[in-house]
Amino acid sequence: MRQTTPSAPPPTFPDDFVWGVATSAFQIEGAPAADGKGPSIWDMFCKRPGAIADASNGDIACDHYHRWAQDLDMIADLGVDVYRFSIAWPRVRPTGAGAWNEKGIAFYDRMVDGLLERGLKPYLTLNHWDLPEALQAQGGWADRDTVYRFVEYAEGINARLGDRVVSIATHNEPWVVAVLGHETGIFAPGIKNRRTAAQVSHHLLLSHGMALQALRAQGCKASLGIVLNLSPLHPATNSDADIAKTRLEDGKGLRWYMDPLFKGTYPQDVIEHLGDDAPTVVDGDMQTIATPMDYLGVNYYSRSVVSADKPWDVHQSGLAVTDMNWEIYPEGLTELLVRLHHDYPVPPIFITENGGAFNDTLQDGRVYDSQRTSYLNRHIAAVAEAMRQGVRMGGYMVWSLMDNFEWASGYEKRFGIVHVDYKTQVRTLKDSARWYRNFLQQQKANRGR
Ligand code: FCB
Repeated sequence: MRQTTPSAPPPTFPDDFVWGVATSAFQIEGAPAADGKGPSIWDMFCKRPGAIADASNGDIACDHYHRWAQDLDMIADLGVDVYRFSIAWPRVRPTGAGAWNEKGIAFYDRMVDGLLERGLKPYLTLNHWDLPEALQAQGGWADRDTVYRFVEYAEGINARLGDRVVSIATHNEPWVVAVLGHETGIFAPGIKNRRTAAQVSHHLLLSHGMALQALRAQGCKASLGIVLNLSPLHPATNSDADIAKTRLEDGKGLRWYMDPLFKGTYPQDVIEHLGDDAPTVVDGDMQTIATPMDYLGVNYYSRSVVSADKPWDVHQSGLAVTDMNWEIYPEGLTELLVRLHHDYPVPPIFITENGGAFNDTLQDGRVYDSQRTSYLNRHIAAVAEAMRQGVRMGGYMVWSLMDNFEWASGYEKRFGIVHVDYKTQVRTLKDSARWYRNFLQQQKANRGR
C-alpha cells in the first residue's frame, strides 16, 4: 500500500520533556495603540514603502489582543504543556523609559493567569524585536543606555509576572536584530551599517547578562535563558575558499553568540574580520555576558550551504525547500545539537522554534498540509536522535501556533499549524495541528511507562 502518512512516530520522550507552540507579540496581537500602547520600531518600519512584501503591517494581525481567551482555549485543546509568547515592550512601558502602562501589563497578567487556569506553562520572551520607537529615536540598541532600559523592563516584568511564569528568555535571535535590523536593513529598524550591527549585538548580549543578574537578585524563580537562531553551515564544495568562507560565516552566526555566552570571549577570527567595525567592549562586559543560564533556546529551520562567490545563504543542493525557500534538512538539527553539546558547556537545550511555511489552502474547512506534518515529524525525530547521542534536551516548540505576520514577508508566508482567515479571523486547525495533538496524546499515554 502506498504510504500516505509521514515516517513512523518518533520514540517516546522523557516524562519531563515539554511540548509547546510559540508566537510573538507583534506577529499576532494587533491593537498597536490600544489602552496606551506606544509605537514599536516594527510599527514604524511597516510604514516604509517597500519594506514589507505585501505592504501590510501589524495593526490587526491575528487580533489576538482581543481574542486571547479563545486562542488560549485552542492552545489547551492541542494538549501542549507550554505556550511560548512574547511581551510587547511598548505595550507595558510605552516609551521604554518613564511611566509604566498598567492597562498593558494587565493584558499579560490576564494571559498568564489564563494559561495557568488551563494547565499551560507560560514561557515568556522579553524581546522579540519590537523595541519602543522612543528608544530607537535615542539610538536604540546601538546606544548603551538601551541596555539599562532593558534591564529595568526585565525587572518590571519580573516584579509583576515572575511569580507565575515558568521560563523567561531575554532576547529572541539577537543575530536577526543585529544583522537583519542594522547591517542588511531588511528588518526594523532598517539600518545598513556593519559597525552599528556589531555594537548592537554586543549590547544585546550585555543586556542579556545584566538582566539575568538583576532577575536573580530579585529572587526570580523562573528559569532564565536566551533564544538563538542557529544553523549548521556546509561548504558548497571542498575548495579552500568555500571552506574558509564557511568557517567565517559560522563565526559570525554561531560562535559570535555562543562563545561570549559560554566562554566569555568573542571569536578572534571574527574580531579580525570586523577590524575597525568590532564593537566597543567595556571592562567587565564579557564576564557579565557569560553569566550562567538555566537553559539555552535554539530556533532551527534549515542549514545553509556556503559558497565563496555567492551570498552566504544560497540553497543549491536540490533538496526540497519550504515556501521561504529554506531547505528542509532535519539531519542538520541533530548535527547542530550534538555540536553545541560537544563544543560548549551548555545547560539543557529547548527547541524554542521549529516549523515550516507552506503554501496552504483552506478547502471545505480543512488544510491538508502533509508537508508541514512531515517537516515536524522529521525534526522531532532529529531531536530524539540528538538525545540518543547524549544531548540534554528540555523541550520542543512548534513555530507557530497560527499563521501570522511574518515580518518583511507580511501575511504571504504561513507558518501556523492553525490556519487564520485574515478577513474573518476564523481559526481552523490544519492537519498538522491534528497530527501534533495525536502525537502528544500518544506521548502522554506513554508517560510513566
Ligand atoms: C524566526 C522568528 C519568528 C518567525 C520565524 C519564522 O526567525 O523568531 O518570529 O518569524 O523565524
